[in-house]
Amino acid sequence: MTGPSTAAPSRFEHVPLAVFPTSTEAAHAVARDIAALIRTRQAAKRTAVLGLATGSTPLGLYAELVRMHREEGLSFANVVTFNLDEYYPIQPSNPRSYRHFMQAHLFDHVDIVPANTHVPDGTVAMSGVDAHCREYEERIQAAGGIDFQILGIGRTGHIGFNEPGSQRRSRTRMVTLDSLTRRDAAGDFGGEENTPRHALTMGVRTILEARRVVLLAWGQHKAEIVRAAVEGPVTPQITASFLQEHDQVHFVVDAAAAGALTRYRTPWLLGSLADLGLEWDRGMKRRAIIWLSQLRKKAILKLTDDDYNEAGLQDLLRIEGSAYEVNLAGFYQLQHTITGWPGGRDPGRTKPGDAPARPLRGPSAGVFPKRILVLSPHPDDDVIGMGGTLCRLVEHGHEVHVAYQVSGANAVSDDALARALRFVGDSGLAQPAEAERLAALCAAHDAEGSLPETAEVQHWKGLVRRQEALAAARVCGVSSERLHFLDLPFYRATTGKRRQLGDADRAAMRELLAAVQPHLIYAAGDLDDPHGTHRLCLHALRDGLKLLSAEAWVRDAELWLYRGAWSEWSADAIDMAVPLSPQEVLRRRRAIFCHETQKDMALFLGDDRREFWQRSEDRSRRLAETYNALGLAEYEAIEAFKRYAPDEFLSDLPL
Ligand code: F6R
Repeated sequence: MTGPSTAAPSRFEHVPLAVFPTSTEAAHAVARDIAALIRTRQAAKRTAVLGLATGSTPLGLYAELVRMHREEGLSFANVVTFNLDEYYPIQPSNPRSYRHFMQAHLFDHVDIVPANTHVPDGTVAMSGVDAHCREYEERIQAAGGIDFQILGIGRTGHIGFNEPGSQRRSRTRMVTLDSLTRRDAAGDFGGEENTPRHALTMGVRTILEARRVVLLAWGQHKAEIVRAAVEGPVTPQITASFLQEHDQVHFVVDAAAAGALTRYRTPWLLGSLADLGLEWDRGMKRRAIIWLSQLRKKAILKLTDDDYNEAGLQDLLRIEGSAYEVNLAGFYQLQHTITGWPGGRDPGRTKPGDAPARPLRGPSAGVFPKRILVLSPHPDDDVIGMGGTLCRLVEHGHEVHVAYQVSGANAVSDDALARALRFVGDSGLAQPAEAERLAALCAAHDAEGSLPETAEVQHWKGLVRRQEALAAARVCGVSSERLHFLDLPFYRATTGKRRQLGDADRAAMRELLAAVQPHLIYAAGDLDDPHGTHRLCLHALRDGLKLLSAEAWVRDAELWLYRGAWSEWSADAIDMAVPLSPQEVLRRRRAIFCHETQKDMALFLGDDRREFWQRSEDRSRRLAETYNALGLAEYEAIEAFKRYAPDEFLSDLPL
């Protein structure tokens, strides 16, 4: 695989790796390789045998292959496919089955012979599973073996469904899914309890026997596991690491998924930056100083020449002169991220000698008060991710709007809605006909323990969350006229297809942005949410802004990304740090508590069992401790943001 990579491969990496700026470019490059194989085989009147994966990762690849079929005449008539895995038990007609996925995203759109497509069968009787798995292996052999195997990587490091502990010699078999994998899939199945416990999967050995293997990974949520698979030891705990033993393997990743590799995270460990084609710019210096301070467990201003030398930062020392100089520069960079004025200073309350309106830097930095738009993907992300800052912005007199991008209905349990419906029924407020209908629904819930999956039920669930958001906004002082419930349609998609943005989503974002014309936008840059909703919401924002890019206010706007329930910015990525007092932390907690359906039994807590308010508090307190350990003032908690200028987020959010 040939691909651009921004730095020389490092001695830390044990597999060839191509880094592309975006997943789209990467997927297109892989599609070209596959097309070349298919055409070469066609010319030789032979079949091409592809090993295929499902999941969100290969979607762009399949879309490009379908486009090549339609527009460039790429024929799949000589292609035979074997999919890696299938849930068990599952019917092929189930929209969540991998058979259904493959039909929807590839097979139904190309001229492949249906009998040439193989997916493990999720319907065989338990007693026939072993024979079916043996037969699957035999069919691969009979087809001549796999020529080109596509893989994704799970957050457990799995390939196929070879979960941690799978042995190198494993073959196609039934496996029990890891709890993290099941939680990642819970969004598709409407809760963890509905997610299958088992799957049929090709084994590690089956995969390693393919003549060529390409593993794809996109997004920052894959960065740590990619690093472990590429730089770590070969271990059954991370089955993707077995690929290090294959002589025709390539990892193809986007910049975000490559972010944790040594060549990007700590490139000074590889030698002189100039030799690697890199520079000691502000960001790199800050990263190195924070890394060193944490490595030596010393405040930045206490680092010595010896600390720099011994940790391999001689290069930096040589450029800057002495530890004293580097320390001061690094310290002030961090100090200047801290502000109690997240919307900029009130000129009426500024005294001569006060620091400038740092860290805002856009043309509208001096405007006061500002129009501010806070985007909350789900109805609770605003308060979880930046509740303290939200209260502060309102208190400072800015015109604060909050837009809830999706309804959040999928995360309301049937029990919670049934309780609300019973209340309406008992209140006597419903007309007799409606009251009867409600009673019937509640009776069905009593009998079956669940409510039907109708559009109406989804709508009501959305309303439950809307009331929770209204209550939380009241705690934060945001006026209800400035709350916008966008209910973006992509979130409502219920077919087997993965959710994708559509024109209606983009138009809704555009309309909101044009109406508010914000000076500052706060959006969730938390891309580790298990279902990709945050990523799609951020892309909806980017696309909405692109549609308005000719407007002067867009060029003056600043975008600040916060993190929600799933992860925090690392200290070296933070551009604005807003310290909170103990009272502000408690107020934020009260706001988060308003989201009652998300407490205790929330459907999607992910692999972290803490409730959202606990994560929010732990995270912001830990960040305050991190700042303090670096030698900055001691605060109760800190909420953190990363800045993007318009030209950065309009071109392509590097996410
Ligand atoms: C899918 C498969 C899995 C996925 C992995 C990543 O057939 O075998 O190993 O490739 O779980 O899933 P996504 O791409 O959804 O992140």
